[in-house]
Amino acid sequence: MDRRQLEQRPLGRSGLTVSPLCFGGNVFGWTADEATSFRLLDAFVDAGFNFVDTADVYSAWAPGNQGGESETIIGKWMKSRGNRDRIILATKVGSEMGPGKKGLSPAWIRTAVEDSLKRLQTDRIDLYQSHWDDPATPFEDTLGAYKELIDQGKVRAIGASNLTAPRLREALEVSARTGLPRYETLQPEYNLYSREGYEAELEGICRENGLGVINYYSLAAGFLTGKYRSAEDAGKSARGNGVVSKYLNERGRAILAALDEVAGRHGATPGQVAIAWLIARPGLTAPIASASKPEQMGDLIAAATLRLDAEDIGRLDRASAY
Ligand SMILES: NC(=O)c1ccc[n+]([C@@H]2O[C@H](COP(=O)([O-])OP(=O)(O)OC[C@H]3O[C@@H](n4cnc5c(N)ncnc54)[C@H](OP(=O)(O)O)[C@@H]3O)[C@@H](O)[C@H]2O)c1
Repeated sequence: MDRRQLEQRPLGRSGLTVSPLCFGGNVFGWTADEATSFRLLDAFVDAGFNFVDTADVYSAWAPGNQGGESETIIGKWMKSRGNRDRIILATKVGSEMGPGKKGLSPAWIRTAVEDSLKRLQTDRIDLYQSHWDDPATPFEDTLGAYKELIDQGKVRAIGASNLTAPRLREALEVSARTGLPRYETLQPEYNLYSREGYEAELEGICRENGLGVINYYSLAAGFLTGKYRSAEDAGKSARGNGVVSKYLNERGRAILAALDEVAGRHGATPGQVAIAWLIARPGLTAPIASASKPEQMGDLIAAATLRLDAEDIGRLDRASAY
């Protein structure tokens, strides 16, 4: 098996240094309860990783939840382990947290950051991200609010998620013109199945401007692990129906065939290969992936040291061409 050492990478020009894989915290309080979440996080950091992503709104969609559960679990975990200084912590603002509590207005950002800090039991967020575009609030206002938080030491760097290429360009231009802080990272959806949205334009903008890229749905919500091969496999997870209807088609099967082949060549698994393909992509800093069970964590950890060669990448690129 072709393995290399776990690297640490600069997160764009933010000054932060991160592991080449980020643990996605949308599972905490949803498909992973608190005890399981602690075990997953322990395994992740014990293997040398330091980067965790969440959002204020996670995991509001789970029955009985209201949002904030993921941050609360991460906060308790950091407190109990005494490891806050060793974690690079990313969270987000902007999703709806209740009537009128959403968006990127300065007033809401100032409130939301205090709520997140309280739940996370910390005095600072390493990477604070705009979860969604908010066309109703001028970039100057949002970035001005972030500047206040950076000046106060509550936030170290800012990032954006789910911005279109023209809007990302506009945001960067506003920062350059005004001297306000700029988005140092982009969090787009990107994986072997969903390539075009990022590769068409966003990738070029990020590379030209030296932005860190931390993409989400690295495993296509589990599809790229190869565990969904027939409609009946939807029953394997609470997320199964959505996964099968979105990805289990001709193109999805062709991608799985290529993943199986490359995985076989390396004595690896399809999920490991899917993440290794992302880590090898020039300009991409750290894919975000999650696991809901400790036995899944092994794949995430192994993916970060799996070395793919040009032939592997060519095979995967051809199978996923769009
Ligand atoms: N910015 C945004 O708008 C946005 C949107 C979505 C996600 N995100 C971020 O991206 C992160 C990752 O998203 P995600 O969890 O939806 O997608 P993902 O990483 O593509 O899928 C992870 C899921 O795949 C399954 N899995 C993982 N390892 C496995 C293995 N070895 N074998 C079998 N199944 C395995 C698990 O689900 P099961 O429980 O079903 O087994 C796991 O929760 C989130 O936590 C969040 O931080 C951001």
